[in-house]
Order: sequence, then structure tokens, then C-alpha cells
Amino acid sequence: MRIPADKVDEIYRVADIVEIISDYVTLKRKGANYWALSPFVKEKSPSFSVNPAKGIYKCFSSGKGGNAISFLMEMEGYSYPEALMHIAKKYNIDIPETEADENYEKNKNHIESLYIILQFAAQFFHKQLLESEAGKSIALRYFKERGILESTINTFQLGYAPDSWDALAKEAIAGQYKEEYLTESGLCFPSEKTGNLIDRFRDRIMFPILNATGKIVGFGGRIMSNKEKEAKYINSPESPVYHKSQVLFGLYQARNAIREKNLCILTEGYMDVLALYQSGIQNVVASSGTALTEEQVKLMKRFTKNVLLIYDGDAPGIKAALRGTDVLVAEGLSVKILILPDNHDPDSYTKAYGTEAFLKFSEKNAMDFMDFKILQVKEFMAGDNSPRTESERIQQLAQTLILIPDSIEQQMYVRQTAAKMNIPEEWLHQSMATAKIQLQQQEVKELRRNNQPKEAPLIEMKTFERLDTASQEKELLRILLNHHDRVFKVITEPEEGGEPVTEEIPVTLFFISELDGVTFDNPLYETIKEEIFRHYNSSTPFMINRFINETDAQVSNLISELLTHTHSLSENWLKYDMLTPSLDHDLQVAVQDSILYYKYYRILKLLQETREKLKTATPEEEDELFESFVFLTKLKNEIEVQKEIVGAVKPDDVHL
Ligand code: UTP
Ligand code: MN
Repeated sequence: MRIPADKVDEIYRVADIVEIISDYVTLKRKGANYWALSPFVKEKSPSFSVNPAKGIYKCFSSGKGGNAISFLMEMEGYSYPEALMHIAKKYNIDIPETEADENYEKNKNHIESLYIILQFAAQFFHKQLLESEAGKSIALRYFKERGILESTINTFQLGYAPDSWDALAKEAIAGQYKEEYLTESGLCFPSEKTGNLIDRFRDRIMFPILNATGKIVGFGGRIMSNKEKEAKYINSPESPVYHKSQVLFGLYQARNAIREKNLCILTEGYMDVLALYQSGIQNVVASSGTALTEEQVKLMKRFTKNVLLIYDGDAPGIKAALRGTDVLVAEGLSVKILILPDNHDPDSYTKAYGTEAFLKFSEKNAMDFMDFKILQVKEFMAGDNSPRTESERIQQLAQTLILIPDSIEQQMYVRQTAAKMNIPEEWLHQSMATAKIQLQQQEVKELRRNNQPKEAPLIEMKTFERLDTASQEKELLRILLNHHDRVFKVITEPEEGGEPVTEEIPVTLFFISELDGVTFDNPLYETIKEEIFRHYNSSTPFMINRFINETDAQVSNLISELLTHTHSLSENWLKYDMLTPSLDHDLQVAVQDSILYYKYYRILKLLQETREKLKTATPEEEDELFESFVFLTKLKNEIEVQKEIVGAVKPDDVHL
């Protein structure tokens, strides 16, 4: 989504903070300011004030404050452009589509069509549940047996997929929906035999999965009988609108309660969300059986910084809790963990003992994440207090401690943990240093993995056929865009007797010198790279925001992606900034590594070309080509040794 600069200006001009906030709370004028009960916390006397002259609000209870746009971001969990669009809509400001870019338009319609067909399917399933014979007698009865109320069925738009091969497909096609959208959304797939469309969900109760803005992006479907050979749940496959690592079931319905309670309860399953929600605990979401991801945590973070993880107490549950904790802690959230007894999940627990008992149990037993970890560590090889096992325990604690981004908080946890383990703090600090290095190595490995072109994993590179440098170029751009205005220090070892020399190298300059004369294969990437290089040394510094506004949609979309993409390792390096004093060093490693890998792929590509040419070369040409082949191979080997690239391209893969 691109909003032209003049429209952004207009939005800022017309946005009336009193009007906008009045959509959420009742403001009363007192003197120059307006006052209301805070929408962010429960309170009896108003502490929320709006100053229309300055265009700002301030909530004295929660400490939050800002302008109309940040209010919407806070309140609705909107991103910046989403908040702008909200205001544009409210004041009827037309945001022109970027006409220049047909693909953008086509793609947008395409995505819109997927949303529409998913919405259609949800209505279809819902209607089947409430109106069809089988729906009423089987599915509705199943919900009733499990204690699901009618209001819950409506709030979550629950449904029933009939026991038929193609009921949904037929209905959709009769309604003029296109087949391609049925398959692309994952609702149907073509039969291998006949090619006719088959419904993915058959004879299952259906849970629509909504994204953060309330659009249906996929479904989970639960079987009602205990058929052993079929999966209990089937979920929508990944699609252009559904990325399972980026959604949390129930978040849309829970968001207001999460903000109000300033707590997000994270459970494992669909049924847990429904059960807690209808018993009045509405600040609840589910990761739906998958390991919690960084993206999901970022979603939660839009609404609160406090999370209560609820898992059942079996071994996989505890493992999942520990893994989830680390992801949450690394994002700076404050985490508590509740383990339910007797393999109960929240659904079965509330059913067995009631909501009151659940709340009581939770209050008494929810544990601070570090206490939970200490408990687990103590149970690890219980009884064995050999130095080796003790050391292993400390190491495990250190692995979590290093993730805490706030250094004061980290210090406090180190102190507490040392006391609880009855060991000197120093031991923890030492283990933490080791753990940090291990983590960095692990992430470098990941960088390597991410850097491999998707189409052509290294292993299959034998033929070099599909080798392309696009993902390396992209990673370079990502780092360049995120850090173009930074500088890293390089310390040169002293000559004998001399002082070590510290040199400051601007990141952009380093790129310019390393990529001298290089043209990126991807023209889009090349444009952005050159734009940044052009501004270096010019009187007008490179300003991302300006560039985004002045360039076409394709480029600005790419830039936004590169600036926000969470898989990027560069973000992890940033995370380290808070952990280690050697921030420059980490950035430097990221920059140097990404350039090195880029070179590596270019070398592979040149090798490929050389080999091709050799096939048809004359004897004279052959000499020269062979020489460059040997030279390139030597370079390649050097990098492989330096970066421990193993099994990447075995020597005999590149023989003549
Ligand atoms: P559970 O097996 O704990 O199911 O899986 P549940 O949610 O408690 O459901 P009931 O109470 O048995 O009806 C937890 C979550 O893991 C995912 C689902 O999202 C489920 O809610 N899951 C589980 C699957 O995706 N597929 C499966 O086959 C099983
Ligand atoms: Mn359950």
C-alpha cells in the first residue's frame, strides 16, 4: 500500500484528534483539555486527556501518549499506513491507486478475491451448521455436547463442512466464483484422476482463522468422530493470504480484552480459546499447535507486553512452553507460565472445575518464566549433582538469560537466578558469554541457509542450471537499507610495538568499495542500491521515507518489505546491540558475511559460465578459460574453507 506524500499531508491536516478519539471514549471538556476514562486501563476517575491545540493525547494511568495516528495504532493495533488509511476513510480522502503499476493493481484484486471467497466459504459453512439436516443433527449437537454456546458459534463464525466431495466447490462455482481462487485459497484441490475440484474440508466442524484486521484467511477443521486414520485437525495450507506463522487464532476477537486486561493468554488450541472466551476470559489466543513464532509475538506485542502461556504438563507441553518462552522473552515481553495438572488443557479444566477454579488455580500457580526454567533445570537429571550436570544446568539457564533485551532487567534476573541456584553470579556471566557466541554461530548458520537461493539449494547445484544471485542481492540490500547511515569500527592489530589503530568505516562506504563496478542482476535491486550509493557524499543524505514516497509502488513495496522482514538476520544483529558492547563488531560481521556470500555466488555463476564456454571452445580459448576456471575454483575453495561451507559444491561437481 502506498500513500502519496501530499495525501499524507492532507491526512495530518484534517485529522481531528478529538473527533477520532471520540469514536472510542466519551470526552468531556475542562478548560483547554478534554478528559475521559482511559481506554487502555480500567479506572474510576478520568486520567486520559486530549489537548486539541497541540493535537496530542496523554494517558496518565498507562503513561501512553501521542497524536491521533499513534492513538489509532495503539488502540486498533494498526500499522502506520493502516492508521493513515483509517483516517483517510473517515474523512473521505481518496487515496489514488498507483495506476502506473498494473501488477500492483492486479495483485491487489487477486488478494481481494481470495478474501472474498474465504468469506463466502465461512458463510457457507456457518449456514450448513445452522440450517442443513446433517449440520443440525451432527455438528451442532457436537458443539452442544462440548458446551459451546450459540453466542460463541456466532462470535467465531463457526461452521460445518458437509460430508460431500464437492458441496462447497459446486456452490461456489454456481455463484460465479472462479475455480482458481478456490484452489489458491486452499479450500479445494483438483482430483488427480478427474481434475474436478474436491473440497479440502469434509464432514468437519470449521473454525475460521482471522488475521489482525478481521479478514478470514484460512480454516481449521476438526473431525467429530474418533477415526484413527484421519487427522484430528486439518488446516488450510499456506496461501498468498494465509501464513500460519503470522496469525494467532482468536486475536481479532480478543484484542480489546487483551488491551484492557493488559495481558494476553496464549493457549494451544482452538477449543481452549472458545472455552475460555465464553466463560468470560476473553483475552485469549491460540498458536494452534505450531511452535510460537517471532511474527506471532510481534502481533501480540501490538496490544500488550504481558503474556501468560498455558500448556499442559506432559513432556511435549513443557518443551513447547520453554521454546515459546524464549521467543517471547527475546521480544522483550514479560512472560508467565501456567502448567495445568493431569494433562488438562484450559478447555477441559474449566469444564471439569469451572471458571472460578481456573482463575484461582492460575493466580496461585502462574510462574515467572525464569522460575519455571529453574524448576525444569533442577528436574533435569534430578539427583545427579556432578559438576558436568551442574554446568549443563547453568548453561541452559544462560541460554534464556541472554535473550532478555533490557539490560537492567537482565542483571536482576541474573542476580535472582544465581541466588536461587545457590551459585556465584560470575558463573552465570561466564556461561552467558559462551551462550552468546553459540547463538551467534547458530544465526550465522541460519544466514547461510537463508542466503541460498530458494529455487536452487546448494546441494542441487551440481548442474548450476538455476543458479541465481537474487537472494544474495536482496540480503545485501536489506542490510544496506537498514544500516546505511551507520558506522562500524575496525580495529587493526598493532604492528610490533605500535598502538592498535581504530578506524571508523561508514557502512555505505564499505559497500561502495566492496561492490565497485558490480551491477546487480535484478534491475529493481540495482535501482535501490545505486540510489543509496548516489546519495553518499552528496549534499542531500539518503532518506528512506522520502525515497519511498517518491518512487513507484514496486520499489517502495520492496523497501518496506526489506525494512520490516522479520526473518532478516540483520534484525537479530540489532537485537544484539542491547546485549553486547561490541555492536559495531556484530554489524561488521553481518555486512562482511553478506558481501562474502554474494561474492561466493557470483563466483559459482562465473564458474558455470566458464564451464559452458569450455564445451565449445577452440584450443586457444581453452587455455585462457581453463586458467580462469582454476583461479575461480581457488577463490571458491578459499571462501568455503574460511566460512566452513561443507558439502556445498564438492570438488568433483565442478570437474571439466
Ligand atoms: P489438541 O490435540 O490439544 O486439540 O491440539 P484441542 O485444541 O485441545 O482440541 P480438542 O479439545 O481435542 O477438540 C492443539 C491444537 O493443535 C492443532 C490445532 O490447532 C489444535 O487446536 N492441531 C492438533 C492440528 O493442527 N492438527 C492436529 O491433528 C492436532
Ligand atoms: Mn482440548
